[in-house]
Amino acid sequence: MSKLNIVILAAGLGKRMHSALPKVLHLVAGKPLLGHVLDTGRALSPQRICVVYGHGGDAVPQAIGDETITWVRQMPQLGTGHALMQALPYLDKDGMTLVLYGDVPLTSIETLKRLIAIAGEKTFSLLTVELADPAGYGRIVRNDETGDIAAIVEEKDASKSQREIQEINTGIMVIPNQYLHGWLHKLENHNAQKEYYLTDIVAMSVKDGVKVEAAQPAYAWETIGINSKTQLAALERIFQNESAKKLLDQGVTLADMSRIDIRGQLDCGRDVEIDINCIFEGHVQLEDGVKVGAHSILKNVKVAAGSTIAPFSLIEAAEIGENCRIGPYARIRPGTKLANEVHIGSFVEVKNSTIAVGSKANHLSYIGDSIVGKNVNIGAGTITCNYDGANKYQTIIEDDVFVGSDTQLVAPVKVARGSTIGAGSTITKDTPPETLTLSRAKQMSIDGWKRPVKKPKGEK
Ligand code: UD1
Ligand code: MG
Repeated sequence: MSKLNIVILAAGLGKRMHSALPKVLHLVAGKPLLGHVLDTGRALSPQRICVVYGHGGDAVPQAIGDETITWVRQMPQLGTGHALMQALPYLDKDGMTLVLYGDVPLTSIETLKRLIAIAGEKTFSLLTVELADPAGYGRIVRNDETGDIAAIVEEKDASKSQREIQEINTGIMVIPNQYLHGWLHKLENHNAQKEYYLTDIVAMSVKDGVKVEAAQPAYAWETIGINSKTQLAALERIFQNESAKKLLDQGVTLADMSRIDIRGQLDCGRDVEIDINCIFEGHVQLEDGVKVGAHSILKNVKVAAGSTIAPFSLIEAAEIGENCRIGPYARIRPGTKLANEVHIGSFVEVKNSTIAVGSKANHLSYIGDSIVGKNVNIGAGTITCNYDGANKYQTIIEDDVFVGSDTQLVAPVKVARGSTIGAGSTITKDTPPETLTLSRAKQMSIDGWKRPVKKPKGEK
């Protein structure tokens, strides 16, 4: 295969977004528009990817932060032809150049592969679509007799009859590099918008005897560009709908395919069930038989087989073992590792802690910077006091410990194997194994004690 260069045009303003953020940095499925285009581009294994940027200045290269990309600044922006010309010094002399737009995020790799396959050293290929309403787009003008592509005419320059044409230019094209230099240098801006139109090279190609071929995307939404928040919201739904369809095809049960949001990669085993309004971010793995309850948010999490996440749970950067029961209303924070058969119940927060097999914290607890052994029962309202206002300390709870309700474990502290902590204790020293430890005043009852009574008004 001949060399492939990719140029992504991303210098435009995006005025209709009404935002200080450059348009291509707005998110679809948690990833910048330009990030989607770059991922697609990388999947085609090109020799080089150039991004032409302008509006928003260095915010765009900084946000993307990829040094393998050739960043080319276009200032001022004088049109798509002018934009590609800025990248020209970085392109190979032979091979071909795929032009993508930074604000068209969902073009599939398969569609682009088909477009590249019909291009060549002497063939120019365009991605076109037929639209019922082609308003605003450049129209594909074909030769009346042969049906071959003759030119692209922009809407603002089109005649009345040309405006009737429904086949439009998506802007995505593959150009043979050996002609690119000559054609771009011949561009002029004698048109309605006083811009250097990249589309004018199509007529030049025909004149030079280089055939122009067209391919169509599998779906029209693959070529939708974003100009407004309304279009961004619509494309987000398309993306989420496609993601949901893929999960259903793999056998995942979704309570409602229109109420799931995937902002990253979600890998599911067999017989996974996901209730409504769950959000998955980063890389989430749900093994066989995992159930995720309504309104849960999982970010960079692995949940092993058979575990259940009850509704309203928030889990981030954590590993959950097999057959665990989490939630409802659990918060599991980064650095947490739960072994098999652990139960984390309602209003329990776990941070940067490991909890061994069979242990339970079922109600209203905070477990932070802790190592918890096997078969430990942590009573309701227990907290690890891991922070003294300046530094964090570790709590160690060994196997078979029973911590009574409303206990404070003031770290650093170790609760030895088999200990029982009486409810309501504040534990500041290590406890001996297999012993009951309490730290509370003895209960007493005072005979003859009277409740205070409210004084009548006016009395001192
Ligand atoms: C362009 C095409 C039109 C096509 C349409 C598809 C031209 C002349 N017209 O029109 O045939 O139907 O896209 O959406 O090419 N850009 C730059 N620098 C510039 C100008 C644009 O980087 O100086 C970038 C924009 O950021 C954007 C892309 O190029 O990503 C397209 O620019 P836009 O202004 O949207 O072109 P259209 O007028 O829509
Ligand atoms: Mg446009």
